[in-house]
Amino acid sequence: MNPIDRRFKTIIEPFKIKMAEPIPFTTRRERAALLKRAGYNLFNLPADKVTVDLLTDSGTGAMSVEQWAALLRGDEAYAGATSFRRLEDVVRRLTGFRHVLPVHQGRAAEKLLFSVFGGPGTVIPNNSHFDTTRAHVETSGAEALDLPAPQSRNTQSIHPFKGDMDLAALERLLKREGHRIPLVTATVTNNSAGGQPVSMGNLKGIRRLCTRYGKPFFLDAARFAENAYFIKTRERGYAHKSVRAIAEEMFRLADGCWISAKKDGMVNIGGLLAFTSAKLLAPLRNLLILNEGFTTYGGMAGRDLEALAQGLTEVTGEDYLRYRAATVAYLGRGLETAGVPVLKPFGGHAVYVDARAFLPAIPPWQFPGQAFAAALYLEGGIRAVEIGSLMFGRRSSGGQEETPARQELVRLALPRRVYTQAHVDYCIEVAALLARERRRIRGLRIVTEAPILRHFTARLAPLPAPRKRRKAL
Ligand code: F0G
Repeated sequence: MNPIDRRFKTIIEPFKIKMAEPIPFTTRRERAALLKRAGYNLFNLPADKVTVDLLTDSGTGAMSVEQWAALLRGDEAYAGATSFRRLEDVVRRLTGFRHVLPVHQGRAAEKLLFSVFGGPGTVIPNNSHFDTTRAHVETSGAEALDLPAPQSRNTQSIHPFKGDMDLAALERLLKREGHRIPLVTATVTNNSAGGQPVSMGNLKGIRRLCTRYGKPFFLDAARFAENAYFIKTRERGYAHKSVRAIAEEMFRLADGCWISAKKDGMVNIGGLLAFTSAKLLAPLRNLLILNEGFTTYGGMAGRDLEALAQGLTEVTGEDYLRYRAATVAYLGRGLETAGVPVLKPFGGHAVYVDARAFLPAIPPWQFPGQAFAAALYLEGGIRAVEIGSLMFGRRSSGGQEETPARQELVRLALPRRVYTQAHVDYCIEVAALLARERRRIRGLRIVTEAPILRHFTARLAPLPAPRKRRKAL
């Protein structure tokens, strides 16, 4: 459906293209060799060998005319840059948080935050930790506990807010283990659970519990605008409010947030930590100066601060968000029609293929998600990312046995304002080919892996095709 005028079905992109960036084409034979060289890990592929890159929506977006213009205003002063003041003002108005610390990307904010809040013996609850968040929580010695709402388990159910946190589980935890919990966190939208939104009702519930048990509440707000858009379109009582007002309301339920600005900040690099508590300022500021840079630039150039201030202003534009949600839904429906099962309802930044359902003959420890992602590249030069047992599975202490992830998903993430509907149509066509030839897709085994965040660097190899049953003599 056309996001702007319901009489037409073309998704007309609400922008025109001022600068053309060629995309590469390769042959199937070249891609087979490239895959082998990459150890069947798509993170190891050179980007100039990828035709449609849906690896991530992070830092891959196109900046607007206004953002490019803003770069020239960048004040590169080491201290007191006017660009920082502009960004600080935009963030304060958006979030209501007084203290704003710029960092180079989301995980830098996580490092700072969990150095202060984490530590051995503590537990950090979240609806679902993103992988870098989990890694920082665990590296601090704390336990990262996911409390997704029960509705997130069924990949086919149409529940409008599958990103919610399980409030009953949070309350039980606060009651039983309250002394071990320094901070409650929630990720909007819930990336690890399929880019699904969190309802305002759920955020209010978390707020109430945090107030009752005296705990600070921080949002991982990388995709706050997409979350706010879904609240507007799916939650009762919000249809008449602007996305901007809804985003402001979301932030005001929390005590602080961290933002990977590479998503809804609409920039290629950047991040933020913002909060209310004056007590937190000194320890976080000291860590910022030690790790990232002085407080008025953090890990960013002055021009990046300007582009981010502009990006945060643009991202709540409703024509843009309508087009974005419509594009994700178009890709999702297209894959489904082609015979590829996908997570529903469609989320904000990506479509998640249910690889367990698509490749039931490949067990989790042979990585059906990674096998699907490798096949998508082999056949169409499309790059996606596995979010399954390669990313989240764990080895049992002694042996080969894996504790599988809860789901075997493959994420096709749409960079912001980059690809057109024709690119999306092409992806759907390639997926339809995979659906027809799914029996030829083989599982993978790990050849080498790192102890943490192994999916970034692991090397894999395809398993031999199952032997045909010998004919009886
Ligand atoms: N939180 C969420 C919800 C994220 O999705 C990410 C990054 C981060 C934190 C970390 O931010 O990359 O700026 O350090 N997600 C990217 C992705 C990498 O592909 O989803 P970062």
